[in-house]
Order: sequence, then structure tokens, then C-alpha cells
Amino acid sequence: MTIQEEIQKLRKERNAVILAHNYQVGEVQAIADFTGDSLELARKATNIDAEVVVFCGVYFMAETAAILNPGKTVLIPDPSAGCPMADMINGEQVRELKRQHPGAKVLCYVNSTAEVKAECDCCVTSANALKVAEAFKDHEIIFVPDRHLGSYTSEQMGKQFVLWPGYCPTHARLTAKLVESARAAHPGAPVMVHPECAKPLRDAADQVLSTGGMCRWVKSQDIQEFIVGTETGIMFRLQQENPTKRFYPLDERTICPNMKKISLDNVLNSLREMQTRVVVPEEIAVRAKRAIDAMLAIA
Ligand code: 13P
Ligand code: SF4
Repeated sequence: MTIQEEIQKLRKERNAVILAHNYQVGEVQAIADFTGDSLELARKATNIDAEVVVFCGVYFMAETAAILNPGKTVLIPDPSAGCPMADMINGEQVRELKRQHPGAKVLCYVNSTAEVKAECDCCVTSANALKVAEAFKDHEIIFVPDRHLGSYTSEQMGKQFVLWPGYCPTHARLTAKLVESARAAHPGAPVMVHPECAKPLRDAADQVLSTGGMCRWVKSQDIQEFIVGTETGIMFRLQQENPTKRFYPLDERTICPNMKKISLDNVLNSLREMQTRVVVPEEIAVRAKRAIDAMLAIA
């Protein structure tokens, strides 16, 4: 039996569903029941009829699935798959921001710990940040932890936010300079970048999109070639869904080491051993769920 067959056999025996983020390695995406961006995965997690969820992504994403499914078993194949940006702020730092800006609403990128979500008014993802922020336009807005998604949303809205200086180390390696050489190598190919990229790169690009947004935009275009400014795991899905189109990474070294900790081996082991369970203390889960539900109700 191949490892893929073993996984499928155990998945059925355990009544499990396998969810994967767009940055997972191709072979993990290929065995998943559903692959998507953070927003799509959060929505999917509200609507699962299996007993077990194997979450192939980073810890905060599995935590979100656990918060949205209190009665289910959520497993992450490698619990050390964290997100350095999520760890750039903690609950006490959010409380201090609230003390400094009484009356402000705190918007929190889903790339954050449950402890931080529990302190915030509403979550956002890279796919819905503007729509969610618009719902709070009459308030002072504190945006944590990503200063780039925060500044991008604030620019689009034409309103100043209080920003926290967090950032994604993987997207930080992408610079506006790379756009020049990529355009020279692939004339006519549009450049798509993720909103976690810094402003000079966003300004140099043609499209600023979440990973799910990139998948939808590419499908909707007649263009044949695209330059992709985000984690390279997404190239697998883009190529699967658009076999005749060509995709070039803005920088092929744009790899999130944490996303890459999930493998077929540890997915199989996770199902065999029913490990590692993602458990969020109830007091935090209840408050974090409010912020996630508030987001899902808006966009
Ligand atoms: P998406 O919500 O666009 O999938 O992005 C998640 C992420 O971690 C980007 O680095
Ligand atoms: Fe976190 Fe960046 Fe990895 Fe996304 S790509 S999970 S923001 S470290």
C-alpha cells in the first residue's frame, strides 16, 4: 500500500477530514479533502461533519479550527509548525494598547494566537481585511500584528490605524527590486503579491491578493503567464487548476519553513496516533471565538 493509500484508509476509519493551506507541499495538498486560504479554511471549519480534523498548516490555523469546533478532535501533524508573526504580540501587549487608546476597536489578523484573538474585537484575514475594517470606520482602529496588512488596509480605507510592528519573515525577503528583474525575464506577465509584503513591493506589483484571491484572479484571466510574489507552495495549486498557464516565483526562496514541517509521513502518524491534539483553554476559546464569529458575520 502506498503512503497515500494508508492515509486514505485511516482517514475513513477515523472519520477524519484533512484540511490544507495553500502553502503546503504539493503531495500534502494532493491528499487533502480541502485546500484553501485562511478565510476559506476558517469557513470550512464551521461546517465539518467528520469527528476528526487533521489540519495541515501552521498552529494558529489549527487553533482556529479547534475554537470553531469545540466538540471535535483537531490534530496538527507537527505542533512545532508555528507562525513567527503570530508570536510577535501577546495578550498583555494588546491590553496595554487598549489602555493607551481607550474606546478604540482592535482588529486582529488571524495570524495570531488564541490568547491575542481573545483580547480583540474582530479578526480579519488577508482576503477580507478591508470589508471588516469598513465596519469599524467610525472608531479608532488598532491593527495587530501585521504592520504590512495593516498599512495596506489603512491606505485602501483612507484612515489612519494604530499599527503594531509585526511582520512575516518569509514575505520580508521579497523586495520591489525583484520586480524589475522578474518583469525583464517575463515581459507582459502580471506580478501578484500578498498583502504581507512591504509597501514598496505592493506599489510595484499589479495585484495585491490573498492566496485564495490569487487562485481566483488567475482563473479569471486570459493571460498565460504570471509572476507570483508569495510562498511558493501556492504554485502547486495554481498549476493544478490552470495546467496551460505558466507561473514564475518572484523569488523561488520564498519558503515558509513552518508550513513545510507538515509531510505525508507526519500526516499518517498523526492519524495513527491521534496526535497532536490542539486544545485551547475554554476561557480563551470562548472569547477568541467571539472575534472570529464577528469576522465571519461581516465577510
Ligand atoms: P492567506 O490568508 O492569504 O492564505 O495567508 C495566510 C498566510 O499565512 C500568509 O502568509
Ligand atoms: Fe506566518 Fe509568514 Fe509562514 Fe504565513 S508565511 S504562516 S505569515 S511565517
